[in-house]
Amino acid sequence: MIKHTLLLAARRALSLPGLRFFSGGGIIGDVSEWAGSPHLTEQASLYVHWPYCLRRCSYCNFNKYIPRENNNSIMTDCLQRETETLLQLSQVSSITSVFFGGGTPSLAHPSTIAAILETVSRQVNLSDEAEVTLEVNPTPAGKSKLEDFCHAGVNRFSIGVQSLQDNDLKILGRDHSSHQALQTIEEAQRLCPGRVSVDVMFGRPKQSVESWENELSELLRVCDDHVSLYQLTLERGTQLFKQVQRGEATVPAEDVTAEMYQSARKTLHRHGFLQYEVSNFARNNAVSHHNMSYWKGRQYIGVGPGAHGRFVLLGEGGVVREARTQTLEPDVWIREVQQQGHGTRRRIQLGHLELLEEVLVMGMRMTEGINHKHWELFSPQLGLHEVFGKSTDVQELLQSGQLILDDRGLRCSWDGLALLDSILPALLVELETQILQRQQRDHRADGQTQKTSNPQ
Ligand SMILES: C[S@@+](CC[C@H](N)C(=O)[O-])C[C@H]1O[C@@H](n2cnc3c(N)ncnc32)[C@H](O)[C@@H]1O
Ligand code: SF4
Repeated sequence: MIKHTLLLAARRALSLPGLRFFSGGGIIGDVSEWAGSPHLTEQASLYVHWPYCLRRCSYCNFNKYIPRENNNSIMTDCLQRETETLLQLSQVSSITSVFFGGGTPSLAHPSTIAAILETVSRQVNLSDEAEVTLEVNPTPAGKSKLEDFCHAGVNRFSIGVQSLQDNDLKILGRDHSSHQALQTIEEAQRLCPGRVSVDVMFGRPKQSVESWENELSELLRVCDDHVSLYQLTLERGTQLFKQVQRGEATVPAEDVTAEMYQSARKTLHRHGFLQYEVSNFARNNAVSHHNMSYWKGRQYIGVGPGAHGRFVLLGEGGVVREARTQTLEPDVWIREVQQQGHGTRRRIQLGHLELLEEVLVMGMRMTEGINHKHWELFSPQLGLHEVFGKSTDVQELLQSGQLILDDRGLRCSWDGLALLDSILPALLVELETQILQRQQRDHRADGQTQKTSNPQ
């Protein structure tokens, strides 16, 4: 059965699931052990958050604001300035992908997108081949700007279709019709063939398995090569949450949403889409390289109000990765960027255990899971078999067929992937136990060495 938390975690790059498992501060192991690979520090992806929307969708609790006035030009300056500052603070010499998310980044002026990409190119290498994605709300205004976004440097679109039922779009508070969504998909495909993704949500009020299956079939007739499926999460504080609490709206039960998920996976498979992550499906190898870099535990820099980043600073400690969060509220963020060049609100140094927790939580979301070489990059001393091979809980998961640990690495089976949130706790407990034991052994060994080298 799928738990809400699983797909909530699957939603978007901005709300990284790994954060839930941080013990905050904690143990900083011997970081030099896992810092060997230069591409872990010199390459990064870039996430840019555009915090404005024209209205609030009834289900959404992302960091977004309704603008009081047009401050496109101040936002452009500040996004450029923060990009410049954070790149300078990092050891990054190459940005491998850029993702403009929101909020509604398709409300930004195409010249803003061009200016940010130019800022990146001025400072570091941004190859012409690098994937540059923009999230688009499929309104007529959004559609009419797609060509200019392409001229600005965007080469991939992620379109928030959400539903193809006009009634449901109204309940969700969306400001477009299904017809407008279809027209936007067509135009995006004309401009970026093979590089258009669509977001759809299931588990919506009053939705049945049958209507979901019909809707998905309709979408598959028109969509390009990438689909993201998200289970609607009832977020506290949203209008939809309150409606459900008051009994004015109902959402399908968990066993129904689980059936929706499984049937969608099968339908997508039949249409040639390979599932490569809990919520993501691609045909013709059109995977999202940007999101893959999160799931592979690579560095990323997050700019804009409320953006998150994970990167190693230049100088300070040299190899310790930092979790950074930018100030949420756009006006406060703008002031901070104008005064100090960035709006970083929180910085936490990630210890070795915390980094491995992230690598595990993110890696297990992929159908390919974590291979031995990948794990070794972050944990050269303790391999996957050593960490997970002894635990009786993990053995049970292996025997039940939900989990696979073999000479390729660690991954979920088809059934296991739908149960990821109930599998992860056992893996995280075992990881913590093994890493702490290893650190205690190393500590004792260090003590012994010091005694023998200082015999007085
Ligand atoms: C936050 S939106 C930003 C992009 C754009 N503004 C839009 O609405 O399409 C990114 C995606 O998050 C997903 N999302 C937002 N709130 C969600 C929720 N409560 N449950 C599940 N998915 C959600 C939607 O599918 C949406 O396409
Ligand atoms: S447009 Fe997107 S970001 Fe804005 S409120 Fe709706 S779902 Fe949230």
